[in-house]
Amino acid sequence: MVDLRVDLAGLTLVNPLVLASGPLSWNGDAIVRAHCAGAAAIVTKTIRRAAARSPRPHIAATPHGVLNTERWSDLEARQWIDHEIPRAKDGGATVIASLGLAVDDVVALAEELERAGADALEVVSYDEAVLPSMVSAAVERVRIPVLAKLGVNGCDLAGTARRCAESGASGITAIDSVGPTLRVDLARRRPVLGADSAWWSGPAILPIALHAVHVLRGAVAVPIVGTGGVADADAAIEMLFAGASAVGLCSAPLVEGLGVFSRMRERMAQRLDELGIASAHDAIGAMERETAAGFAMALDDAACTHCGACVRVCPYAARRGPGVVEAACRGCGLCVSICPAGALAWERGER
Ligand SMILES: Cc1cc2nc3c(=O)[nH]c(=O)nc-3n(C[C@H](O)[C@H](O)[C@H](O)COP(=O)(O)O)c2cc1C
Repeated sequence: MVDLRVDLAGLTLVNPLVLASGPLSWNGDAIVRAHCAGAAAIVTKTIRRAAARSPRPHIAATPHGVLNTERWSDLEARQWIDHEIPRAKDGGATVIASLGLAVDDVVALAEELERAGADALEVVSYDEAVLPSMVSAAVERVRIPVLAKLGVNGCDLAGTARRCAESGASGITAIDSVGPTLRVDLARRRPVLGADSAWWSGPAILPIALHAVHVLRGAVAVPIVGTGGVADADAAIEMLFAGASAVGLCSAPLVEGLGVFSRMRERMAQRLDELGIASAHDAIGAMERETAAGFAMALDDAACTHCGACVRVCPYAARRGPGVVEAACRGCGLCVSICPAGALAWERGER
């Protein structure tokens, strides 16, 4: 039995999957639904003193990911403190209160959110320069862990993370949605969401998020909540391998429903078992840096179905059926990655 429990800055999570801040954690009842569906912790929609009004529409699912122009919570902070967080706690959820977007909001709300029952705070801002001051303001006021949420939109990721950790952050969440971006509605000849810039999330941003987590792992000693583009168990395990202690999801449950949490939890246990890893904890940071000097391409004759995919994609016309013309092959590896039968592989050793 694979043990899926992980530790996040002193919070024991029953599995690594966290509902990231967004529409599915818009109030206390919604948080309880996510908890019952299997999310080990839930980050609230970002809370400020005043309620936001988002444009209509502000979310669009596209074949390649989710576009949004949603602002912070459309509920007043007082509503969160008096009703929504106590409701979420009564329902048994582990609640991380997302608190933005400026130092004044932190000064006004941090203690009250802790008193309302939040298990941790996650401070977030559109302006990365103010994040370390938000962290200090929170740490001075509360005893619960304070996470800092970072994006990759033009910021110095490692530097900002280091400054947040030095200011007392117990963990880093990364990344936020990516942008600005644009999709065009051809029939209406307008931007899909009406605005000419929107934020992008879902599977397309997974490689960006994985790289961010890898960079952060090298930059700070505090745990990381790897968030961005995770839609299946393999992607969640990649996040752990890259260095995340927990994995945030927003777009996948938004588009596919809350059932993704239980499906991914079961599948993660199976996949870790297949990979010979006894626990989610052992998977954290398990990615090895490639050090081999060279690789040789190996063909498993029995597995090859002669489908021709490797021949079709070879940019150098070096593939002749499953065989390769050594003089023409530049070792790019595209054929290995595209082989549907898994008959091609790279093995360590000079070629
Ligand atoms: C519709 C929508 C609303 C979001 N609102 C917030 C928010 O209020 N606060 C926040 O920190 N992140 C917010 N996010 C960003 C997500 O928490 C997450 O960092 C990002 O979407 C990447 O993860 P994903 O690819 O799993 O969606 C929002 C994302 C979406 C799609």
